[in-house]
Amino acid sequence: MQTFSDKIINWQAEHGRHHLPWQLQPTPYRVWISEVMLQQTQVKTVIPYFNKFMQECPNVKALSTIEDDALMNLWQGLGYYSRARNLKKSAQIIVSEYSGSLPSDMHSLIQLPGIGRSTAAAILSLAYEQPAAILDGNVKRVLARYFAVTEDLKKSATLKQLWKQAESQLPQKNARAYTQGLMDLGAQICMKRNPLCSDCPIETNCLAHQKSLTDVIPKSRSGKKPKSVSLYVVINIYDQQIYFIKRPSKGIWAGLYTPEIYDDCSTMSHQYPHVHPLKPYQHRLTHQLLTIHPFIAHYQPISEAVSQPIDQITLPIPTGIKPALTQAIMHLNN
Ligand code: ADE
Repeated sequence: MQTFSDKIINWQAEHGRHHLPWQLQPTPYRVWISEVMLQQTQVKTVIPYFNKFMQECPNVKALSTIEDDALMNLWQGLGYYSRARNLKKSAQIIVSEYSGSLPSDMHSLIQLPGIGRSTAAAILSLAYEQPAAILDGNVKRVLARYFAVTEDLKKSATLKQLWKQAESQLPQKNARAYTQGLMDLGAQICMKRNPLCSDCPIETNCLAHQKSLTDVIPKSRSGKKPKSVSLYVVINIYDQQIYFIKRPSKGIWAGLYTPEIYDDCSTMSHQYPHVHPLKPYQHRLTHQLLTIHPFIAHYQPISEAVSQPIDQITLPIPTGIKPALTQAIMHLNN
């Protein structure tokens, strides 16, 4: 009889993905970088970022010494920028403590910043062919359905149960194909909405399928509404230059460059009495819905501001600020 893992491995060989850039040459470094990018970002978005990252930063040594601004430029648009800073920190540790080679055991991997249990297991299985159970968002959904886990997947008791189940199915051979198969199944068949159960290799034993529970598992999280926040953004233009401030190392857009931002309009007006308003717009972050009010100003720049030519902005700028800059530039050109 075929086991759960046999079915996943066979299905992966026939129907899974085999040509993703990090699969073509699954070195520990490439697998590590791709897994961190894939933690919060979809495959199709990650691919061009991954390829560029590998060109500019082809190994641990290069990553350990990259300039912070160059690193932010490589990450710009991917979001969750602490991932990039953790990559560099980890690279420095790998150079100083592991002679530049990524460790190949769970204990050492999870001590590195930005590598949790599931990412460590993905590296062990995809790069080193070692059996190690993963449990990322997709795999949680696959297992919760297969075992008909109806509880909230955010609860620690539920997660503990899913980790046990993930461990219990782990094969001793074909670690790479098995891990990739679980990920591919989650992405291609066992989707959140409208899963393709009739194409699924584990349909017959899937308890959620048998009990018609695929619509209610995984239990949707108690929808916390994002907080509404207004930001007042002063795009200061002086002598054909736009001025930017480096954001603090903590908080929203940490380490990136933005025009000056105020969280209330009156403080802004106090600093910049004469401004020209542009059109406000919304930008969604994970836990906040931003309403961005952009303004153009023409003042002597403050001392910590960094200048860029209007038509050649190369600093790492957050995605949420770009529409404000585009409007400002269009306004100036009219
Ligand atoms: N999601 C997380 N890791 C992945 C991988 N290696 N391939 C495809 N999707 C993934």
